[in-house]
Amino acid sequence: MLKYVSNKGGCAAVDFETAILDGFASDGGLYVPETLPKISIEQLEQWRGLSYVELAFEILSLFIDRTILSAAELKEVLATAYAPFEKQQIIPLHKLKTRNETYIMELFHGPTISFKDIGLAFLVNLVNYFLSRKNQHLSLIVATTGDTGPATAYFCAGKSNLDAWVLYPKELITPEQERQMTSLQQPNIHPFAVTGCPDGADTLDAVISKLYADPAFKETLKLSSVNSINWGRVMMQTVHYFYGYLQVVDKVGESINVSVPSGGFGNLCAGALAREMGLPLKHLVAANNENGSLDRIFSRGEFSKQPLISTVSSAIDILIPFNFWRYLYFILDADSQQIKAWMDEFQATGKVTFSEEVRERYQRGFLSNSATDQQTLALINEIYAAEDYLLDPHGAVSLQACDALQVELGPEKLICLATAHPAKFPLIIKQALNVDQLPQAATHHSIERDKTFCQKVHLCEYAILEPALRSAMLTNWELTKGQ
Ligand SMILES: Cc1ncc(COP(=O)(O)O)c(C=O)c1O
Repeated sequence: MLKYVSNKGGCAAVDFETAILDGFASDGGLYVPETLPKISIEQLEQWRGLSYVELAFEILSLFIDRTILSAAELKEVLATAYAPFEKQQIIPLHKLKTRNETYIMELFHGPTISFKDIGLAFLVNLVNYFLSRKNQHLSLIVATTGDTGPATAYFCAGKSNLDAWVLYPKELITPEQERQMTSLQQPNIHPFAVTGCPDGADTLDAVISKLYADPAFKETLKLSSVNSINWGRVMMQTVHYFYGYLQVVDKVGESINVSVPSGGFGNLCAGALAREMGLPLKHLVAANNENGSLDRIFSRGEFSKQPLISTVSSAIDILIPFNFWRYLYFILDADSQQIKAWMDEFQATGKVTFSEEVRERYQRGFLSNSATDQQTLALINEIYAAEDYLLDPHGAVSLQACDALQVELGPEKLICLATAHPAKFPLIIKQALNVDQLPQAATHHSIERDKTFCQKVHLCEYAILEPALRSAMLTNWELTKGQ
């Protein structure tokens, strides 16, 4: 049976179900499979022509033991997860006219119109499936830069085995993203609008870690997380790399490039693991905005935390690319002692500098770039004017990196991931296009619908967040479950 271990090496191996329901490993590390399955070119060839859901079934079957989830159960969870997506292909690809062999992978056709729907549709439904059959309850707690929160809330809403506590930095997400969380009326959804967060959502993550570190609280509330620290998110996100590859190649076996707008490195970690499994990806591009945390890792060998810069691609205003530690585990031959030492060093000092040798190993097949706001806005404008195609600011960051790295990337086909729908960022789109009236492409019926509901939210200052959150969670627990 495939087991899961912590990348810090400090706890016993567990089965898939435990890894998913725990979220974090008990030593504070990230769960990883003991071995990564390998895919041959022949296998890839056989998968050509599969639908997204069929392909997901094949890939996830490599990670999930049938004794834990039978083939029929896995199919059922997948079918439920992707039923609310608006496009039959789930993630359609759009070929650009003004770039050579460049495809935009539209990952935003789920119910909350960002790529977070892709991972969370599956993960939340899976968690709920496991809990229902054990008749157990979990309190999920996530911090969000505006997309994980809505997707978590949507998929948890009304599920009696789950409560979802969703924390967001009030001033740093758009009103549209906020309403996606606050307009849900189901009593198990608890949005927390936090004012005065010094480091945005990263600060909220730090508070969540403190709650996790309190064993009595964690046990009483049955705390877990579906942030991309959860293996289920990363695993599910490997699928769109395989799917996109199989859609665009002329011949299975040829190499392509993929660019990913990145913050916490969850999505990109999935791409890196897909490559380790055997998918022919020549370059993966870490596309940052001016916060540049991954660009510093790849170009300077420095994992460091700098003051938050508020940008037009706000969902990737993320300081700590936490999933990089997961990727390193695979690249450095499962050297968990070394990874633990680095994670501890970063915790203590806010900085780790990697040796030339380590950097050379993790850098292989990676390029990086940091887009300025000016470049992002100009590119949205350019592509809309030239192609009548509207990118959101995160898709634009992804394409901007490819424009900047054209020479290094070479002639291979290129997929740029577009991770959110422009309708989530109407003010930025108006600014980019220099218009007062939004074009149709920057609107979405779900955003309009959310405006017709009242909002339900806990308002909280950052200075009192930890005690206030504890108190709200305990009260809810006593009222609904604790009697
Ligand atoms: C729209 C959008 N793009 C990209 C990202 C970055 O993804 P990751 O944190 O997996 O790097 C996020 C969220 O973090 C997002 O909301």
